[in-house]
Amino acid sequence: MKNFKRTLITSALPYANGPVHIGHLAGVYVPADIYARYLRLKGEEVAFIGGSDEHGVPITLKAKKEGVTPQDVVDKYHNMIKASFEKFGISFDVYSRTSAKIHHETASEIFKTLHDKGAFIEQTSEQFFDVEANQFLADRYITGTCPKCNFEKAYGDQCESCGSTLNATDLIEPKSVLSGNKPILKQTKHWFLPLDQYEPWLREWILESHKEWKPNVYGQCKSWIDGGLNPRAVTRDLDWGIPVPVAGAEGKVLYVWFDAPIGYISATKEWTKDWTKWWKDPETKLVHFIGKDNIVFHCIIFPTVLKAEGSYILPDNVPANEFLNLEGDKISTSRNWAVWLHEYLEDFPGKEDVLKYTLTANAPETKDNDFTWKDFQTRNNSELVAIFGNFVNRALVLTDKYYNGIVPEASDLTDYDKQTLSEIANLKTEVEKSIDTFHFREALKNAMDIARLGNKYLADMEPWKVIKTDPHRVKTILNTALQIAANLTIVFEPFLPFTTEKLRGFMNLSKLNWNELGRTDLIAANHKINTPELLFDKIEDEAIQHQVDKLLSTKKVNELEQAIVSPAKNNIEYDDFAKLDIRIGTIIAAEKVAKTKKLLKLTIDTGIDKRTVVSGIAEYFEPEKIIGQQVSILVNLAPKILKGIESQGMILMAENADGSLVFVTPATPTKEGSEVR
Ligand code: MF3
Ligand code: ZN
Repeated sequence: MKNFKRTLITSALPYANGPVHIGHLAGVYVPADIYARYLRLKGEEVAFIGGSDEHGVPITLKAKKEGVTPQDVVDKYHNMIKASFEKFGISFDVYSRTSAKIHHETASEIFKTLHDKGAFIEQTSEQFFDVEANQFLADRYITGTCPKCNFEKAYGDQCESCGSTLNATDLIEPKSVLSGNKPILKQTKHWFLPLDQYEPWLREWILESHKEWKPNVYGQCKSWIDGGLNPRAVTRDLDWGIPVPVAGAEGKVLYVWFDAPIGYISATKEWTKDWTKWWKDPETKLVHFIGKDNIVFHCIIFPTVLKAEGSYILPDNVPANEFLNLEGDKISTSRNWAVWLHEYLEDFPGKEDVLKYTLTANAPETKDNDFTWKDFQTRNNSELVAIFGNFVNRALVLTDKYYNGIVPEASDLTDYDKQTLSEIANLKTEVEKSIDTFHFREALKNAMDIARLGNKYLADMEPWKVIKTDPHRVKTILNTALQIAANLTIVFEPFLPFTTEKLRGFMNLSKLNWNELGRTDLIAANHKINTPELLFDKIEDEAIQHQVDKLLSTKKVNELEQAIVSPAKNNIEYDDFAKLDIRIGTIIAAEKVAKTKKLLKLTIDTGIDKRTVVSGIAEYFEPEKIIGQQVSILVNLAPKILKGIESQGMILMAENADGSLVFVTPATPTKEGSEVR
C-alpha cells in the first residue's frame, strides 16, 4: 500500500432541487463523515469537502414550474441542506456551492485549458429546437409517447412508465414542454470529451492498478470500458449554468456533470489558499464518497478530465454504495417517498446519533438495503439503550453510589479482568482494518463489541452482589468497567460524535486521540466523575407509528395521483342514453342490512315517490350521517331482490382509485324529481 501524507475526502454534491434524505445520508454523507472523523482523531491531515450541485436541467424545470428563477430554487435548497447537515453533525471542512463565483472561474479555467490543448473534439449534430421559444430543448424539455410502451408522457431521455432509456428522437409525437409545439431538428455545435481515446489508459489505471476497489465499483467500471467508450458531450444548449468560455459558444453552458465534480476543487480553493497541495501533490490520497448512480462520472469521466488537464491527482479510491430503500420501496423525491433529514431532526431532537447508528448498521455497502422504522426502533432500544447505554449507566451509577463518583483503585486485577481489557486492543485492530477498507458496517459492529464486552463483564461480575460479600473487589471491577467506558468515548467518536461528547461529560474526560484506544489506564484512580444521566432513551411505539402513518398517507396520495384512468367505452347513440331516467333524490332514511358488510337499505324521496334502494356503500358511509344527502338516482332500473329486500333503482356513485365512493350530488340543493340529462 502506498504511503500518503494527507487525505482529501469528497462527498457527492447533492442537487439543490430538494432536501437531503436518508438515502443520501446512508450512501454518502454518513460513511464520509465517519472516515473524516476517524482520520482526524488519529491526528492525520484531512480535508472533508462538500457543497451543493446547483446546475442542470431539473433545477430549471423546477424553477419554471414554481414561477421563480433557478437561482431562487438553489438558494432555498442550498441553505436548507447546509443547515440540516450542520445540525446533523456532518463535519465538512467546507460546504460550498457550484453557483459560487470561484466555482464558475475554476470550471471555466479547466475547460479552457482542455480546449486550448485540443483535448476536445467539436461536433455538430441535430437537436430538437422550439421555434416559438427560440431555444434548443434538453431531453427533459421534450415529452412524447414512449415507443416501447405507448405511455404518453415519456421524457426525452427516459420513460418513467416502463423505465426504458430513450433518445429524444425516439419519441412518437414529441412535444416541447415550453410551448407545447412539435419541435424541429436544428444543427448545433458541441464540445466532446473523446473518452474512446483514453480507453487504454483507463483500462490500465482502473482494471489493472485498482483491483482493490469495491467489487460493485470495479465491476461497473469494467462493464463501461468493455462496452466501448464513446465521445461525451460536455456542453449543452441551456441558459442556466457556466457559459462555455470560448468563442462561438453563445447560449451554451458546460454540462452539469462536467462542472459539478470540479466543485470539489473550487470548494477546496474557497477553504484554503494552499489548495494545490490537496489537489496536485501525489502524496495526497483522494477518496470520493458517492452513490452507485455516480460511479461512471467519478471513475471514468472526471478522472479523464483531470488526466487530460495533466496537473491533478486522481482518486485513490471511490467507495460507492448501493441504494437504501424505504419500507420496501425505492426512495423517490418526486413521489415524496423518503425520510427527509430536516424533518427527522425536528421529529427526533437530540437523536442525531440514533439515525447515524441505524444507517451505518444497515448501510447499503454491498447490496441495496431497506430502512424500516421498526428496525430503527429496535436498533435504538435493543442495541443503543440495552447494550451501550445500559453498560455505561451501570458503571457510572454504581461508581456514584458506592464511591460518590470518585474512581476507585484497581488493586487486584484477575486474569478475567486482564483478558477483558486486552480484548479492547484486539477490537481496535479490527475497527481499523474495517474502516481502512471502507467496511463501516463491520467497523461499527466491532466498536459495539467493546460495549458488549463491558455489558457482559458487569453481568458476569455482578458488583451489586459482590458489594455485600467482598466490597474491596468491587473497586477493581468498577475501575475496569470505567476503563472500558472511557475506551468507548474514543471508539465511538467517528460514529456517534454527539454521544461520545455526552459520555465524556458524564465521565469528566477530555477528548482522547484514537491512538489511546486500547489503553487500560485512561481514567485515573481518584478522578471525579459527574452525576450520570441516561446516554440513550427508549423510543416508544407511538413515535414509530407516527412516522409509519406519515408514510402511509404519502402512499395513499401517490396511489390516487398515479391511478390509471380506465379507457373510454364504445360509443352509444343518444337514444340509448335517453332510455336512462335519472333524477335528483334525497336520502330520508338509512339503515344497515343485517349480516352484510357492504349494504345499506336507503329510503329515497325521488320526487315521484318514496322508495327503497339497497346500495353497496356501507363501507364508506355511516347510515346516520347520510340522512338528507342529495343523490342522483336511476329510477327506471328493473327492481331486484337483494338479501330479501326489493331494491327499486340505483343511486349513482363516483369511485376513487382506492375504491372509496363519493355521492354524485347536484352542485346546489335541487328539487327532488329533477331530471338529470
Ligand atoms: N448531484 C449529483 C447527484 O446527486 C452528484 C454530483 S457529484 C459531483 O447525483 F461530483 F458531481 F459533484
Ligand atoms: Zn415506456
